[in-house]
Amino acid sequence: MSFRPQDDLEEEEEEEEESTNPTEVKMSQIVMPCHSNHRQELSVGQLLKWIDSTACLSAERHAGSSCVTASMDDIHFEHTISVGQVVNIKAKVNRAFNTSMEVGIVVSCEDLFSDRHWRVCHAYATFVTQRTHTGNKVLLKPSPPHTQAEQVEYSVAAERRRVRMVHDDIIKDLLSDRSFQQADSLAVDNAVAAEKTKVESVELVLPPHANHQVNTFGGQIMAWMVNVATIAASRLCQAHPTLRTIDMFTFRGPSQVGDRLLLRAIVNNAFKNSMEVGVRAEAYQGDGPNRHINSAFMTFEVLDDHGTPCTLPRIRPEALEGRRRFEEAIARKKIRLDRKYIISCKQTEVPLSVPCDPRNQVYLSYNNISALKMLAAKKNWLLSSEKDKVSLYTLEQKSTLSIRVESEVDVPAHRAFCLLSELRNRTNWDTHYQKCELIRPVDDDDFLYRVETPSVSREGGATPTSPRTLQDFILLASRRRPCGSGDPYVIALRSVSLPTHPPTEGFNRGEVLCAGFTILETRNNTSLISYYNQASPEVLPYISTDIAGLSSSFYHTFCACSQYLARNRLQPAPEEEQTDQYPAENREDPASDRVTESLSLALHNTHL
Ligand code: COA
Ligand code: ADP
Repeated sequence: MSFRPQDDLEEEEEEEEESTNPTEVKMSQIVMPCHSNHRQELSVGQLLKWIDSTACLSAERHAGSSCVTASMDDIHFEHTISVGQVVNIKAKVNRAFNTSMEVGIVVSCEDLFSDRHWRVCHAYATFVTQRTHTGNKVLLKPSPPHTQAEQVEYSVAAERRRVRMVHDDIIKDLLSDRSFQQADSLAVDNAVAAEKTKVESVELVLPPHANHQVNTFGGQIMAWMVNVATIAASRLCQAHPTLRTIDMFTFRGPSQVGDRLLLRAIVNNAFKNSMEVGVRAEAYQGDGPNRHINSAFMTFEVLDDHGTPCTLPRIRPEALEGRRRFEEAIARKKIRLDRKYIISCKQTEVPLSVPCDPRNQVYLSYNNISALKMLAAKKNWLLSSEKDKVSLYTLEQKSTLSIRVESEVDVPAHRAFCLLSELRNRTNWDTHYQKCELIRPVDDDDFLYRVETPSVSREGGATPTSPRTLQDFILLASRRRPCGSGDPYVIALRSVSLPTHPPTEGFNRGEVLCAGFTILETRNNTSLISYYNQASPEVLPYISTDIAGLSSSFYHTFCACSQYLARNRLQPAPEEEQTDQYPAENREDPASDRVTESLSLALHNTHL
């Protein structure tokens, strides 16, 4: 997963005062010829070693004990770095969980002669504390954020962790879905036999490759893997390839000084301008069994003198396993594109028309929750009006206007969450929700709804409900319980498109960019409820009249909501938990059920 931060966040980061985060660690290195490849550019393997050491030092500074790399999320290399330039690496702990913590790493390059600086890549790694000699886990202290940017990272880290924990299962499920695979291009003339690209290489783990506890550095293993992958890629293109993307690395088990590491690589598939190389790393000692340490998939390109990607020869896969990997590389390419599109785009740039299907539903859910968390964490909210302790705040960003309506209610947070996360309950308190039907649950925490509302006129307010003035929305509702103390409950809403529910006559299809609730336990049985809405053209007139003080519809709707919650603060509302009764056979895709199972399992572990 390439969770690149949004551009507007980056801008804010730059504006912010210097962080005083005690976990921040910086490393600067001049790129020497011994660090470079044949193109006089810094080798990615060397860069990964520096990234891993900087991140590990940051993790250990927070933990106060030694840590190992558990995983490194997708990395996309935006630029290469030349000999003589300086690499600056900054790492800090975004969030500590129980025994693991997410470290955010930013790599930039500096040209000493022109004083130019530019970003090379951004990465997230997870480190886990090593057990004590007696085998006990070392639990981490909390890592409170210090600045607004850190608050956003802290909040979204919980969401990234959720996706990370199910990553392998999602990929496995999606690969087993044959409908994504279409190996129709096997019979290409002059295709290169995949065997020609096969590499097998062994490395002996020596003390300089390991920490003082004799565990092999994760960065060293990644560097060895990149090395064999580069050889395989070069054999296909007979040129020096450039590594563009590395899919998530997961360290399945430890390796130590004295281990022999067996590294195998082959080009799984070549597309027009890029190829996927797979690498498998196994460790063994003497006659002992081989232990599977890691598998990784990397995307290479070949660039001409102008930096334009060259057309690559096609691959003729080996029989059986080779053929399977060839097909899976096609599926992985599609998954990668979806992920990159949904996760690394600016939240507001992910088109609302993105169809929700099993291939991307986990990433859409991530996008839904993290968009709301980022909106909630913005620092420029302005109080616009206040009435009976219901506050209306506004936030102006480049091209969007967002509102936040907030009040404390006398209802326990978990109860408010339960009532508000079932969208069908909203017809009880929001007069704009004329009808709301559950289309289907996506998993335990994500649901698809169709909502009917009156259209909003240009002058503001709803128009009479003649057949031509109705609107409908297809909404993905995602809900999350707190991941740690101080976290709010979150209910996020965004539009998606569903092939089964095209726009229908008599309804204008409306779109919700980003909306929802955060619910924070304040005092005993009391919660602070905040409703957010990032204005899309449909709600803009409705919002702007409220802000201009011409109508108080938000105030009335919010009051109706509080009263509904108060009425039902103890006994279950009749509509509640209907989703649990939704028959499993009505779910559209069996693959989504498998993803659901793994997600539920992971969530069970991640809810503290
Ligand atoms: N990505 C991110 N975090 C992961 C993870 C992954 N793939 N797998 C496990 N974790 C986290 C869990 O969420 C848990 O975090 P928490 O305590 O904050 O809730 C923590 O790791 C421990 O999980 P647990 O299930 O108890 O441990 P495990 O038996 O799965 O072991 C490792 C996890 C990482 C310790 C184990 O796989 C390992 O030792 N890997 C090799 C690490 C190493 O040596 N790296 C250097 C290069 S070899
Ligand atoms: P899978 O075979 O399902 O892709 P593995 O973890 O076994 O998963 O291997 C990961 C990748 O490593 C493979 O896709 C392939 O590219 C490469 N690989 C695995 N085994 C070999 C081998 N014997 N020789 C060369 N490359 C290999």
